[in-house]
Amino acid sequence: MKDFLSIRDHSSDELRQILALGAEMKANPQKFSKALEGKALAMLFEKPSLRTRVTFDVGIQQLGGYSLYLSPSEVSLGKRESIADVAHNLERMVQGIMIRTFGHTIVEQMAEHSRVPIINGLTDFSHPCQAMADFLTIQEVKGKVSGVKLAFIGDGNNVANSLMFAAAKLGAHISVATPTGYEPKPEVMAWMKQHAPATGCEYFVTHDPVAAVKGADVLYTDVWASMGQESEAEARKKIFLPYQVNERLVAHAKSDYTFMHCLPAHRGEEVSAGVIDSPHAVVFQEAENRLHVQKAIMVLLMK
Ligand code: CP
Ligand code: NVA
Repeated sequence: MKDFLSIRDHSSDELRQILALGAEMKANPQKFSKALEGKALAMLFEKPSLRTRVTFDVGIQQLGGYSLYLSPSEVSLGKRESIADVAHNLERMVQGIMIRTFGHTIVEQMAEHSRVPIINGLTDFSHPCQAMADFLTIQEVKGKVSGVKLAFIGDGNNVANSLMFAAAKLGAHISVATPTGYEPKPEVMAWMKQHAPATGCEYFVTHDPVAAVKGADVLYTDVWASMGQESEAEARKKIFLPYQVNERLVAHAKSDYTFMHCLPAHRGEEVSAGVIDSPHAVVFQEAENRLHVQKAIMVLLMK
């Protein structure tokens, strides 16, 4: 493993190793307090963040290293300086680079030009650290990940893509319900068709939220307009309204369903307050688990 750009680039064994190490670090953080002693992580943000920034920053410090936050205006990837030149500078100064940006090809180009590991902290295409934290959470709550039935309701976005890839690699099942025109891209569906059978992952995409939720163990949703889509937010509110995860919809899931959301959440839009604030929700456990799985990813890549 040199980089962590997308779940689909990694074997099932590598992903299981990240989950196992993340769980061990959560149980025994002291054991790893010098694992990355003196090492520096550059964090390049071209979009806002609460969880990603705090968990990478606190995480590297808990491992004995330190981080540098680089704001959008400071680096201006590809504008003030080419992506290749940013990589060739940073690889001489730091031992790892986390990037949150727009196009997925930006993280791929950084990885191509950088000798030090690149970690994807969210692109328009994927959010792999989030999916790993989510599967650690599923492991904790359901006692397993293999065979667990996940339903994603809403936009076929970056978070949905990474959850689909993770389900395929880890042998979970996943249904995705989106409005017409917001389904996961053909590229994602083609990848699923090729890779899901290897682990017994069953998946389908539908426009019917009730069909997706039927018998599900885990219900997952995300914002209707992602970062960078703010101008579409009002139009999307009308289109996505039938896809709100609310008390009526969750009645079709298993009675002991778990509700998940990567956060930030908009109560009254993609999820009702009654669901996200109910005992079924584990959203803050997911947020905490970002810390543990990312520490595992950093140690595996930067040691
Ligand atoms: N879930 C997540 O990535 O949160 P932030 O956007 O706050 O980092
Ligand atoms: N889909 C959301 C996830 C935020 C963590 C976005 O890209 O804005």
